Amino acid sequence: PEARKVKISQAHGAADERVKVSGWIHRLRSNKSLVFVVLRDGSGFLQAILSGDLALAYQTSTLTLESTVTLYGTVKKLPEGKTAPGGVELVVDYYEIIGLAPAGEDAFTNKVAEGADPSLLLDQRHLALRGETLSAVMKVRGALLKSIRRFYDEEQLTEVSVPSMVQTQVEGGSTLFHLNYYGEEAYLTQSSQLYLETVLASLGDVFCIMESFRAEKSHTRRHLSEYTHIEAELSFLTFEDLLVHLEKLFTRTIKYVLEDPVAGPLVKQLNPGFKAPEMPFLRMTYRDALVWLNEHRIKNEEGEEFKFGDDIAEAAERKMTDTIGVPIFLIRFPVAIKSFYMKRCDDDPEVTESVDVLMPNVGEITGGSMRIDQIDELMAGFKREGIDPSLYYWYTDQRIYGTCPHGGYGIGTERILAWLCDRFTVRDCSLYPRFSGRCKP
Ligand code: 4AD
Ligand code: MG
Repeated sequence: PEARKVKISQAHGAADERVKVSGWIHRLRSNKSLVFVVLRDGSGFLQAILSGDLALAYQTSTLTLESTVTLYGTVKKLPEGKTAPGGVELVVDYYEIIGLAPAGEDAFTNKVAEGADPSLLLDQRHLALRGETLSAVMKVRGALLKSIRRFYDEEQLTEVSVPSMVQTQVEGGSTLFHLNYYGEEAYLTQSSQLYLETVLASLGDVFCIMESFRAEKSHTRRHLSEYTHIEAELSFLTFEDLLVHLEKLFTRTIKYVLEDPVAGPLVKQLNPGFKAPEMPFLRMTYRDALVWLNEHRIKNEEGEEFKFGDDIAEAAERKMTDTIGVPIFLIRFPVAIKSFYMKRCDDDPEVTESVDVLMPNVGEITGGSMRIDQIDELMAGFKREGIDPSLYYWYTDQRIYGTCPHGGYGIGTERILAWLCDRFTVRDCSLYPRFSGRCKP
């Protein structure tokens, strides 16, 4: 009889129909008369049953895990009490082997053995990605980026792509990747921010989702050398407008992910205790954070009490965020510990109109600010940071040819995922993580 070619996700809804479905053998089990296969094709999982002659054929054909097959058969709804993905089972009447995976020493399970050394697993990342947990995180990642784009579309931001090979720094010289650009000095970009600022005058509010590169020498739970950076820039707004925009972004985007028929259940599975953020977010100034940290006897990098001007490093920041347990807008950082472009607060010029968004279990997932819009202040910022402004003529021209109040932010995709999917490290949120010592596969 006829068989309709379907993906597994479609097979779930094809009760009593004869279908043809191709995929990888995810699980395999047999007894005397029956062979149970769980088939995987990236759209879902399908339990299939081979019986009678087919099961006997199996005995001789040596099916193995991760082999690819095409199964033909009838989809049967499972009775109450029996469970399988999609609530169905495929009763197979014919199958073809497409690619037989090795057995024995080279078997898939030996390549990515559970509990193996993490660095060996990273060498086999291309195979490890087939695991249920990693692929679940990557599905959520896809849904997250789709939801972010939906939010930006609703807010009427235009997506742009900007250069990755650049000659200017954004977030300090110490994390630059140097590049020999036809004999000229260049870098891999740390942030697309400056380029986004240059198109406000032509395109209005804009965003981009591009890779950023940081030469972070030390290994931490939340630093990669290459990460996917979601950045946006908005014109004619106040700092408070920027904070409200961020609140809307996080609450709406997460709502869309949780509503997604594929990603929503995966988030529940990966992170059963996940609490969707609610407006308004807690706003805490840098000065208040120092008081909080000192009250809780958390020490600075020198092991002393926090004082104005200290960086709130990863460990202290995470302790504070985890204790408070809700999203925090940490605002108004000192000029001295922030980048050259950040606007000072009118009522307190020692601090800036800046915000870090902190989430439980990760800490900082977003950094943003209002930008200096006066040319002389900007020049003073370059001077303070020891940067040669002549390389930035295209940036400073924005302050000369019609300046405007504006601000923006950058979100680390892998960090938002670590929070959403409850992963210990951002390495589990990137297909092929890059960090010092690791540039393969
Ligand atoms: O705080 P950062 O350095 O801010 C900027 O780059 C701004 N120029 C962005 C902007 O305003 N357009 O980085 C922004 C975010 C961080 O909050 C963090 O989530 C992520 O990027 N991030 C990293 N993620 C993974 N690995 C790293 N090494 C990261 N460095 C920053
Ligand atoms: Mg930051």
